[in-house]
Amino acid sequence: MRQFVVVGHDAPTDADFPLSDLPGSAGRLDLLARSLLAALLRSHGIREDTRVHLVLADQFTLTVDGSTVRSLHPDERSAAALLRSTLENRDEAVGQIPVETSPGITLTRVGLAETIEGLKGTVFRLGADGRSVEEVEPPSNPIFVLSDHRAFTDDERALLDDVVDGTISLGPETIHTDQAIAVAHNWLDRTGDR
Ligand SMILES: C[S@@+](CC[C@H](N)C(=O)[O-])C[C@H]1O[C@@H](n2cnc3c(N)ncnc32)[C@H](O)[C@@H]1O
Repeated sequence: MRQFVVVGHDAPTDADFPLSDLPGSAGRLDLLARSLLAALLRSHGIREDTRVHLVLADQFTLTVDGSTVRSLHPDERSAAALLRSTLENRDEAVGQIPVETSPGITLTRVGLAETIEGLKGTVFRLGADGRSVEEVEPPSNPIFVLSDHRAFTDDERALLDDVVDGTISLGPETIHTDQAIAVAHNWLDRTGDR
């Protein structure tokens, strides 16, 4: 199982935003939608061995499981619409119990710390300042933590420093979150479990 945790600092926590302004009033939901698609879609099919967790403003985590999700279309707007319809159920997410809003999609009222705590596997922070991916042996259950367009905050870095098994650099250039997900997948496709 491959897992990606994406920290959306400005992400919306309710469904009150227009699909016509994803980068603006929707708090860069365009970026999260692309990250979701990069994590779960191949050219013709879905990565059933992958789960993606979108952490929304450290208040909710929206999880999509590649093995059970349905109706995931490859365009950003459809993905954003799926995220918005998930948020329409936010009042059902009580405590730390995930609510399944549609097949393969859950919403949980937790932030980054609780999300990572609940995952099983080898946790890597992805960052250009890390150890080169070429020196790392891919583990069988990798969990990658990425930020959005913003750097991780000091608090997030401190939290991650305590829980991660290492920081991995995918290359010398800082790339977009969805691009980093694609490169990480490619690394595992070439070297790790398929
Ligand atoms: C657009 S970057 C974040 C840029 C942000 N301004 C910063 O300084 O961190 C988005 C995320 O992609 C991942 N990323 C980008 N370039 C990377 C690289 N070369 N190696 C590993 N991860 C990378 C990191 O997780 C990063 O937080």
